[in-house]
Amino acid sequence: MEGQKNNLRDDFLIFGSPQINDDEINEVFDSLKSGWLGTGPKVKKFEDDFKRYKNIKHTVAVNSCTAALHLSLKALDLNEGDEVITTPMTFCSTVNAIIHTGATPVLADIDPITMNIDPKKIEEKITKKTKCILPVHFAGRSCEMNEIVQISKKNELYIIEDCAHAIETEYHGKKAGTFGDFGCFSFYVTKNLVTGEGGMVITNHKESANRIKRLALHGMSKDAWKRFSDEGYQHYYVEEAGYKYNMMDIQAAIGIHQLKRIEKNWSRRQEIWNYYNDNFSELPITLPSPLEKNTKHAYHLYTILIDENKSGLSRDEFLTIMNSEGIGTGVHYLSIPEHPYYQKQFGWKAEDYPHAMKVGRETVSLPLSPKLSSIDVERVVETVKKILN
Ligand SMILES: Cc1ncc(COP(=O)(O)O)c(C=O)c1O
Repeated sequence: MEGQKNNLRDDFLIFGSPQINDDEINEVFDSLKSGWLGTGPKVKKFEDDFKRYKNIKHTVAVNSCTAALHLSLKALDLNEGDEVITTPMTFCSTVNAIIHTGATPVLADIDPITMNIDPKKIEEKITKKTKCILPVHFAGRSCEMNEIVQISKKNELYIIEDCAHAIETEYHGKKAGTFGDFGCFSFYVTKNLVTGEGGMVITNHKESANRIKRLALHGMSKDAWKRFSDEGYQHYYVEEAGYKYNMMDIQAAIGIHQLKRIEKNWSRRQEIWNYYNDNFSELPITLPSPLEKNTKHAYHLYTILIDENKSGLSRDEFLTIMNSEGIGTGVHYLSIPEHPYYQKQFGWKAEDYPHAMKVGRETVSLPLSPKLSSIDVERVVETVKKILN
């Protein structure tokens, strides 16, 4: 990220720039000096720490959330034609992971207020072929998990939670990722916990955890990574055709220290979120809806909606002006059916998912990172006000 700055004006505020402290730098240095760069003791420690943080029985660290989703779906042994219901308001990888297993993704529109998958729409989409519900806790706001769990029980469906935005998220005192069969996390550079690239599967199913671990390293028998350790050479056996999805110690070295600061950083995110809410309340835009009772939002994305009729300029014009003012923004996301591949492959039309379409065409994510100084935050506030007033 810092390297990219060379091509940018000096005061450009990079969207989602990660906060990397000396602890992470020293830990990576330690890995480099030890020569143990690949999967090893630091990955094990990161998995154990994450297990404690999430209060879950099993964790498997992998090299992305996409891998975590793919392997969780693989562990369900889906057959061609089996259907997995997910949201149109997500990153493409949620849908691609389903496609890569041979199953068919089915979209259920969002609730326009929470921007999360609407449980009623899930029910409408259930068929004899439905095997799994894959909710995404969008922006860090928990989905309606009581309703989703009830639907899954009634219809005997698996649940895989896409928690890419939801490391700190809680719903009725329970942590995101622990409601269904698997929770999948992302540690990509812009996420609330960063390892560069990285991901994690969490589950209470021992057999599935072992299988996912095996699939993440070519399908080789358990603890194959130890074969070069001082325990003496151990033969491994390939038990099924797996993937190369394992996390490296260099990545875990960063994650271990990021996890230690996660709640402190969450407080700073909350502070910025509330400051934006207070300062933008009079502007002709839609702010994130108030939090639902008895939930904890991860404050991953602060999204505003720019409706041209109300705001006097289009979303894309707003993005361009913010950029020219030196402030990086994001779009999370154009709804999935806006993309040509899915239109061609599944015949999806954006208009068939009107709430996701509207959000996707109006949404802007503003900088929200513990790395932002008070001066940075003030600059964002003043710039947004100047453009919209
Ligand atoms: C909702 C969602 N799901 C999945 C992913 C994929 O995560 P990764 O980049 O770690 O594969 C992302 C990443 O941005 C995401 O936002």
